[in-house]
Amino acid sequence: MLLIKGARLVDPLHHVDKKADMLVDRGKIVEIKNSINVRGADVLVATNLIVCPGFIDIHTHLREPGEEFKETIESGCEAAACGGFTAIACMPNTIPPNDNPSTTRFIMERARMANGVRVMPIGAITIGQKGEQLCEYFSMKREGIIAISEDGRSVMNSGILRRAMEYAATHDLLVISHCEDHNLSGKGVMNEGIYSTRYGLRPIPTQAEDIIVYRDVALSALAGCRLHIAHVSAADSLFHIRRAKKRGLRVTAETAPHYLYLSDDMLATYDTNLKVNPPLRSRADVQALRKAIKDGTIDCIASDHAPHSSAEKDVEFDIAKPGISGIETSVGLVLNLVNEGVISLKRAIYLLSAGPAKVLNIPPNSLSVGSDANITIVDLKKEWTVDPSKFHSKGRNTPFAGYKLRGKAVATLVAGRILYSEL
Ligand code: DOR
Repeated sequence: MLLIKGARLVDPLHHVDKKADMLVDRGKIVEIKNSINVRGADVLVATNLIVCPGFIDIHTHLREPGEEFKETIESGCEAAACGGFTAIACMPNTIPPNDNPSTTRFIMERARMANGVRVMPIGAITIGQKGEQLCEYFSMKREGIIAISEDGRSVMNSGILRRAMEYAATHDLLVISHCEDHNLSGKGVMNEGIYSTRYGLRPIPTQAEDIIVYRDVALSALAGCRLHIAHVSAADSLFHIRRAKKRGLRVTAETAPHYLYLSDDMLATYDTNLKVNPPLRSRADVQALRKAIKDGTIDCIASDHAPHSSAEKDVEFDIAKPGISGIETSVGLVLNLVNEGVISLKRAIYLLSAGPAKVLNIPPNSLSVGSDANITIVDLKKEWTVDPSKFHSKGRNTPFAGYKLRGKAVATLVAGRILYSEL
């Protein structure tokens, strides 16, 4: 038995915000009361801490199979727990991609051997992510995929994507769109604007993103599938998402913490840790996204954890791999926004727990008696400095090294088991 004493319990979905003790037994929350005392129970003293429904990261790259030097399912799960996540969804752009049932089964088996963080694989839309031939969604779903995505690229052929969406709709599979018109983005490496001209780097206009957001919303309406827009980086994309929501379409969207903090002017350093796809946009886009996480246009925040090796990052900006190892900084960056007054604590917890569960259409974690004890404990006041050398992920590629943040996940429990604790 585990007794969590003295914490503030905050579960926005179920309108819970109170101080109470919580008793966990055999994986479940069995009692919540002002004061609980049980002889022989393990005690977690959580005075001044906040107990939240377990956080879910719906956009991670675990790199296994194929690129285990960057991350394995085991190291990614370890990093996830340390970052405060009880469940993660992993993208299919591995080598080979997760485009068939046996690869899905392999991921599920590896995940079972890891630390207990729930892993939900996302299947590819087309075989080899080549944009030509649809995968077998039905048999992949039987093995465990919870969505399909071509993340890393878009399916550029609208006819093929329409068929994929229709197939997904028949199996109630969420389609997650990486929105990028590759003919427009070309060999671009940063946002198009005054800074791409000043720094002499090949540009990617925001239109490369919002054209595909518009197209994919239109196609999802035609096919009748649920659509989720991944890593929204630009204000113009928000326009199409708001419009889709107003029309009552089943469209959701995420952004990642780096799009809420970083902008294209910062590339003056040519630091390849700032290279990400979609690229960091203007300061106005950052402000628009900060508004969108508040007003509900954005349904959840995902890390887009994209670990890369130093060999792939310590090169010229042009040829560096895009991506940020973000799973251990994501929660801290979101809580820091609470301390900066950008969003409320309730909204932050929603964006990290109920929001992603709703997007994936899975039961949300909850702080009620009888629920599975999937819990993230946060210290909203903890001040800490991002130090990639302490990451549990193999990927040390972060532009946030040295950032002083306020707010951190300090313990992660899955089915009552403590997977991570600083307490
Ligand atoms: O920056 C990115 N890195 N964006 C993506 O869409 C893919 C990801 C990766 O797999 O490294």
